Amino acid sequence: MHKNIVSPSVLACDFSRLGEEASKVLEGGAEYLHLDVMDGCFVPNISFGACVISSIRPLSSAVFDVHLMIENPLDYIEDFAKAGADIITFHVESSSPVDETIAKIAACGCKPCLSIKPATPADAVFPYLDKLSMVLVMTVEPGFGGQKYMEGTEPKITALRREIEKRGLDVDIEVDGGINPLNAARSSLAGANIFVAGSAVFKAENPSSAISEILGAADAHPFAG
Ligand code: DX5
Ligand code: ZN
Repeated sequence: MHKNIVSPSVLACDFSRLGEEASKVLEGGAEYLHLDVMDGCFVPNISFGACVISSIRPLSSAVFDVHLMIENPLDYIEDFAKAGADIITFHVESSSPVDETIAKIAACGCKPCLSIKPATPADAVFPYLDKLSMVLVMTVEPGFGGQKYMEGTEPKITALRREIEKRGLDVDIEVDGGINPLNAARSSLAGANIFVAGSAVFKAENPSSAISEILGAADAHPFAG
């Protein structure tokens, strides 16, 4: 059974106080911090890059979960590894060669993760599963925080979890986009175990209880098989 973890996305935080905002959720029980990097090319939005990540790295020893929504991830793996990434996620739909990019992430000492957009089927990542530590299933179109979770993603999550179990692999499944306690329960039941939450955590009056609510909902609804 995979442990459930909440990975708050700083995309929804007050960037004028990035350090305090990150510390607030990490002290509030988050084990991961989700960092959304967008290049205005792979997605129609620009967020932040490696120097912003390295500026908050000294704040905590939490797992830095870096989500690259960029067209040419292979060219930037070293930069993000040096900035302090622990997990580096890139998209199977990007222009970089998948095997080479996975190998580069591992060679830089980080955990490789591959992500699929809503229209991409689960089996797009099957050829790479044995080299991955996590698969990120997008539950919104990547590019913006604050969107609504897309219903109907659950069968894709289940197909992935079944394939991972069938092969006896140790691969986490992360869901990202519009996550709240209600759909965290549904995606957990479907087989997800890492829950990215931007708005639900940073816009909450009490981010620490928002994290506990998502975790509680996921823990109460383990993968049904
Ligand atoms: C979307 C990003 C998500 C997003 C999550 O492209 O990958 O990580 O910021 O934020 P919420 O939880 O607000 O949808
Ligand atoms: Zn993300």
